[in-house]
Amino acid sequence: MALIDTYGRRINYLRLSVTDRCNLRCRYCMPEEGVEKLDHSQVLSYADLLRISTEAVAAGIEKIRVTGGEPLVRKGIISFLERLGALPGLKELVLTTNGLLLKEMAQGLREAGVQRLNISLDSLKPETFAAITRGGELKRVLDGLEAAEKAGFPPHKINVVVMRGVNDDEILDFVELTMKRPYAVRFIEYMPTCGDADWRELCVPGAEIRERIGERYLIEEVSNSELSGPSKNFKVQGAQGSLGIITAMTGHFCNGCNRLRVTASGIAKGCLFSGDGVDLRPVLATGDDALLRQEVQRIVAAKPGRHEVTDEGAETVPFAMSRVGG
Ligand code: GTP
Ligand code: 5AD
Ligand code: SF4
Repeated sequence: MALIDTYGRRINYLRLSVTDRCNLRCRYCMPEEGVEKLDHSQVLSYADLLRISTEAVAAGIEKIRVTGGEPLVRKGIISFLERLGALPGLKELVLTTNGLLLKEMAQGLREAGVQRLNISLDSLKPETFAAITRGGELKRVLDGLEAAEKAGFPPHKINVVVMRGVNDDEILDFVELTMKRPYAVRFIEYMPTCGDADWRELCVPGAEIRERIGERYLIEEVSNSELSGPSKNFKVQGAQGSLGIITAMTGHFCNGCNRLRVTASGIAKGCLFSGDGVDLRPVLATGDDALLRQEVQRIVAAKPGRHEVTDEGAETVPFAMSRVGG
């Protein structure tokens, strides 16, 4: 079965947030004081997350990316992933993590069937890393990356949210990292999800990032796979790894969007920037899984053609990234 929306896009990728909790408080994700946490009673059980995933896969979803908050802080995550990975028809099970718990959990994740990891790593300098994450320890993440490689994961995707005056001086250091390691480093334009007025100063446009790299290195294009996301990929000559730019603000990738999102509290969203989304809990409560599948199909049919957040007024649409999972 396939899920096709009204704009002819094939929706085959579900981003499933399993918790809004996190063991970091990155400055681009939440304000200093943190965000109000969901009450435990609002968070869907693994059984319900599995019911949603089962129906979504039956309807046409082929790839599930598990996100958070930080997905690895939720108790029982490994056995949940194992059950998720066993869904018939699911081609790809992947996870986005901040890497803090990878050292301990990488082996279990691999055995559970997780195929690949996207890891947030915004600085290679311990002090800058601690400043961005408000206290995170860089070494733990680096140890986690290594443990995951040892556990047999293919080369990781590394997410770097680029912020002017904060970590944009490290763009070329990350390029150097791809000379030595086979990672796919993706530079992400800062999105104003914290309602911050100074986001324009912080956001380094993708074109500028690419230009800065091009001034120093010879760039080669690389192809993007069918299930790949919004990243425009390339590499520098002689590198083991690749580079990518996610123009979350200056470029629209809505035309090729293949995503559906479900939050830990059961809110389904056709678009990252959709307002309230659709609460799946009433349908879950009926116990009727055929109805749940229809609801998924209905939400896909109502998926907006594109988001309206670019420049003007972007700071007026703050939402907690930690609840939606990016
Ligand atoms: P893969 O292509 O499956 O590896 O996933 P991804 O790169 O989309 O996932 P990841 O969780 O690593 O997110 C990378 C960045 O892309 C984050 O900053 C996300 O917020 C952003 N992102 C992911 N999906 C969308 C989207 O649909 N719209 C926008 N504007 N940004 C997105
Ligand atoms: N702008 C851009 N990327 C963000 N992420 C979280 N908040 C933002 C933001 N405001 C990214 C993190 C993480 C991914 C899931 O979302 O880098 O890797
Ligand atoms: Fe946690 Fe990810 Fe948000 Fe950082 S960006 S606070 S790691 S959820």
